[in-house]
Amino acid sequence: MIKCETIDEMRKAISAFRREKPDGVVGFVPTMGYLHEGHASLMKRSATECDLTVLSIFVNPLQFGPNEDFDRYPRDPERDMALAKANDVDIVFMPSVQEMYPRPIKTKVLVEGITSRLCGASRPGHFDGVGTVVSKLFHIVSPDRAYFGMKDAQQVAVITKMTEDLNLPVSIIPCETIRESDGLALSSRNVYLSEEERKQAVILSQALDAASELLKLEDMTADRLVSELHRIVKQAELAVIDYIDVLLFPDLTEPDGQMDLSKSEDQLIVAMAVRFGKTRLIDNRLFSRK
Ligand code: PAJ
Repeated sequence: MIKCETIDEMRKAISAFRREKPDGVVGFVPTMGYLHEGHASLMKRSATECDLTVLSIFVNPLQFGPNEDFDRYPRDPERDMALAKANDVDIVFMPSVQEMYPRPIKTKVLVEGITSRLCGASRPGHFDGVGTVVSKLFHIVSPDRAYFGMKDAQQVAVITKMTEDLNLPVSIIPCETIRESDGLALSSRNVYLSEEERKQAVILSQALDAASELLKLEDMTADRLVSELHRIVKQAELAVIDYIDVLLFPDLTEPDGQMDLSKSEDQLIVAMAVRFGKTRLIDNRLFSRK
C-alpha cells in the first residue's frame, strides 16, 4: 500500500497503474477518516470488484458550517492507515487542506433541488462543499467506480445527479449501511456520545423499524407517519429532533401529504437527524413496493 500526500503524486500513481494495466478498473472510496466498519465495507467491496482501490482521507473544511465540528472532527491517521491496509486498499490519498485549497476557491459545484430538504436544509452550504470536493477528488483520482454509503442517502442522490449532469466518467455504487448490533448506524461522530446518549441513540433505528410497520397500515399518510415518528423519537429524553421527513427517493421531493403511502408505487425514504447533546446523528431507510 502506498500513501500519496500531493495531487501530483496521486496522479502519477494512477497514470503508472493505467500504463501497466490499461483495462484495469480503479475503485475509489472517499472518506474523512476516523475509519470504522462502515468505511471498511466500502473498501472491501471496492477491493473485490476493482483491480486497484484508492481511499481518500480528507476532512473537507468546505462542507462544514461556521458553527459545526470541523476543528474537533475526530482524526487518527495511523489507525486509519492500518485499517486501510487490512482492507486491501492499494493507495491512500491523504492531502492537506493547503494542498486541496491553496487559494480561496471561486468555483463550486451546486446541485439544485435535491439539496433543498433534509441535511441540505439544516446544514446550508453543506452539499455545495461535498459536491465541490468530490468533483475535485474525481478529477484527481479519475476512478471508474466510486463507493458511497447509503447511511448518507442524500449524499448518494446528490453525487449521482452531479455525475449524470456533468457526464463524469465514473459509476456511483451505493452501499448498504453498516450498524452496531443494537441497530445504531456506525458513524465517526458516535465517539462524541456519552454513555447515556449512546444508549438512547438506538431510538433512530428503532423509529425506522416502526416506520416499516406503520407504512403497512392502510391510510398511512406522510403527515401521520412523520408525527408518529416524532412521538417515538421523543421517547428518548435526550433526543432533540432536527428533522424527520418522508420524501420520494432519489429526487427528494415531497409526496402528497394526504396520499395513502401503503398504496404508493414510488420509492420512499424516511430520513431523520437527531441531536444528542452536541452530537448530530442521521439515519434513513428506503421503502419500495416495486
Ligand atoms: P465520511 O463521513 O467519512 O463517509 C465516507 C463514506 O463512508 C460515505 O460514503 C459514507 O456514506 C460512508 N459511511 C459512513 N458510515 C457508514 C455506515 N455506517 N455504513 C456504510 N457506509 C458508511 O461522507 C463523507 O465522509 C464526506 O462527505 C465525503 C464523501 C468524503 C466528502 O468529503
